[in-house]
Amino acid sequence: MKTAFGFFGAGKMAEGILSAMTRLDGFDPASVIMAEKVPARARELSRKYGVRTTPDVAEVARTAKTVFLAVRPQDLAEVAAAVKPLLTDRQLVVSIVAGKTLSVLRKALGPKARLVRVMPNLALRAGEGMCAVCGGRNAKPADVKLVKRVLGAAGRTVELAEKHFDAVTALSGSGPAFFAFMELAMAEGGAKLGLPRDAARLLAEQTMFGTAKYLRESGADLKEFIAGVATKGGTTAAGMDVLAAGDFKSTVAATLAAAAKRSAELRG
Ligand SMILES: NC(=O)c1ccc[n+]([C@@H]2O[C@H](COP(=O)([O-])OP(=O)(O)OC[C@H]3O[C@@H](n4cnc5c(N)ncnc54)[C@H](OP(=O)(O)O)[C@@H]3O)[C@@H](O)[C@H]2O)c1
Repeated sequence: MKTAFGFFGAGKMAEGILSAMTRLDGFDPASVIMAEKVPARARELSRKYGVRTTPDVAEVARTAKTVFLAVRPQDLAEVAAAVKPLLTDRQLVVSIVAGKTLSVLRKALGPKARLVRVMPNLALRAGEGMCAVCGGRNAKPADVKLVKRVLGAAGRTVELAEKHFDAVTALSGSGPAFFAFMELAMAEGGAKLGLPRDAARLLAEQTMFGTAKYLRESGADLKEFIAGVATKGGTTAAGMDVLAAGDFKSTVAATLAAAAKRSAELRG
C-alpha cells in the first residue's frame, strides 16, 4: 500500500477536502488517488492538484491507507459492493455521506471496516467548514485524530457521539441555507429602505461575516455582546425591541427541530 489518501468519488466535497489537504505541512499530491469516472474531470483534478486519478474505485481500495467515501447517498450501495472484498482492517474509511449511519456503513462495508463518520457542511468548500466527527467501533483514537487534523485544514471540527448527528445535520449541515435566508432577509429589508440591491447584499453579507469573525476572535458572550451594541435609546435597541418581541427565536428553534426530524426520518 503506497498511497496515503484515497477518495471514492471526486465531486464537490471531495475537492473541498483535497484543497484543504494541500494546506497541510508536508502534503504530497502524489500520495493521493481519486476515483473519477469522467475523464475531463479527472484531468482537471490532476492538473490542478497533481494527484493521481483512476476511473475505478477498486484501485483506490487496493492502494489507499485512508479513504474518504464521498459519493452521493444513492451511490453508496454500488460503491460499497465493489470495494468491500478489497478493504482490510489496516485501512480507514472516512464517510461524509449524509444520513448513512455507522451501522449502515458497517453493513455495507463489512463488520471489520475501520470507520469514521463525518457530517460536513458546504462551507468546507471555502475552507471554513464545520465537521462533526464520530469514530466507529473499530476506529482507533489515532484515526479520529487524523481525520480531525485533515478536516481541520478545511475549517473547524468537533468530535460528537453519533446520537447527536441529526441535530448536527440540522444546525451546521443545513445551517448554510438558514444563514443565507437570514442574509436574504437582511438584504431585502435594506432594499426596502431604499438601498441599491447589490449594496444591500454586500452590507448584509459583510456584516454577518465580520460579526462572526469578531465573535470568534473575542470569544464574547453573546448576550453581553448584544446588550453592548444595543445601547439604551439607540438604533440597535430600537431594532432589537422588534426582533425580540416577535417569534424569531421560536421560529429558529422550530426550523432546526424540523430539519432534525427529517434527518431522523431519512436514516430510517
Ligand atoms: N454538498 C454538501 O453540502 C454536503 C454536505 C454534507 C454532506 N455531503 C455529502 O457529501 C457527499 C458528496 O457530496 P457532493 O456534494 O460532493 O456530491 P457530488 O459533487 O455529486 O460528488 C459525488 C461524486 O461521486 C461520484 N461517483 C459516484 N459513483 C462513483 C463511482 N462508482 N466511482 C467514482 N465516482 C463515483 C460522482 O460522479 P458522477 O456525478 O459522474 O456520478 C460525483 O462526482 C454526499 O454523500 C453528501 O451527502 C454533502
